[in-house]
Amino acid sequence: MKKYLIAGNWKMNKVTAEAAAFAEELKAKNFSNADEVALLVPFTQLTAVGEGLKGSGIGFGAQNVHFEKSGAFTGEISVPMLEEIGVDYCIVGHSERREYFGETDETVNKKLKALILAGITPILCVGESLEVREGKGEQTFVASQLFADFEGIGMADASKVVVAYEPIWAIGTGKTATPDQAEEMCAFIRGVIGGMYDNSVADDMLILYGGSMKASNAADLLAKKDINGGLIGGASLKVDDFSAIVDAAAQLK
Ligand code: PGA
Repeated sequence: MKKYLIAGNWKMNKVTAEAAAFAEELKAKNFSNADEVALLVPFTQLTAVGEGLKGSGIGFGAQNVHFEKSGAFTGEISVPMLEEIGVDYCIVGHSERREYFGETDETVNKKLKALILAGITPILCVGESLEVREGKGEQTFVASQLFADFEGIGMADASKVVVAYEPIWAIGTGKTATPDQAEEMCAFIRGVIGGMYDNSVADDMLILYGGSMKASNAADLLAKKDINGGLIGGASLKVDDFSAIVDAAAQLK
């Protein structure tokens, strides 16, 4: 049976009281596919969300991490700090971090290694800009991100990574990739992973689509063979919007 992960990326939204209420409401939905659902929340909301989701089967995690265990990195959060809270997931290399906060494939690679070592599942984001797509360079671009981001990561560890394809031109723009465009790239990513590792790693890998996924387009995207779920920004901020996407995945089972 096809595996899914429906992951909400709250970005820099919600204070603790709102986060706790959301977690409680989401837990009360009693999803049959709760173990295929996760919330990626701001650092300061992790504890409340973890508490609120306890016993629900729904996972939770952070949106970024530093690759060093400790030290003079003012304002940063380390893997041991996330481990202590018991997070399941951590987003790495989101395009907003690459664009606004100097994230590079080199730091992404270090973060992946640090998270894998700690048993936290990285959700690695890749994806091209509009300019790259208009120049028909999207496959070359995404392949180069994958090569650099997985550099030095062995077969057993690679299989622990979730990859999210997020075309930058579709993030927060309301402009979703068509199901065919999303499927084409997710299948391409699976092929690249198969070439770097082997078919079993590629076949088992969860490859998500992200970029304006919402209740009205989720079913069509999620039905595609190589799309194992979504990384959902805007539509993860309201319980009902997010739940509709979780239900769409459940119905495809
Ligand atoms: P969006 O964001 O769903 O609001 O487009 C997706 C993401 O950036 O992860």
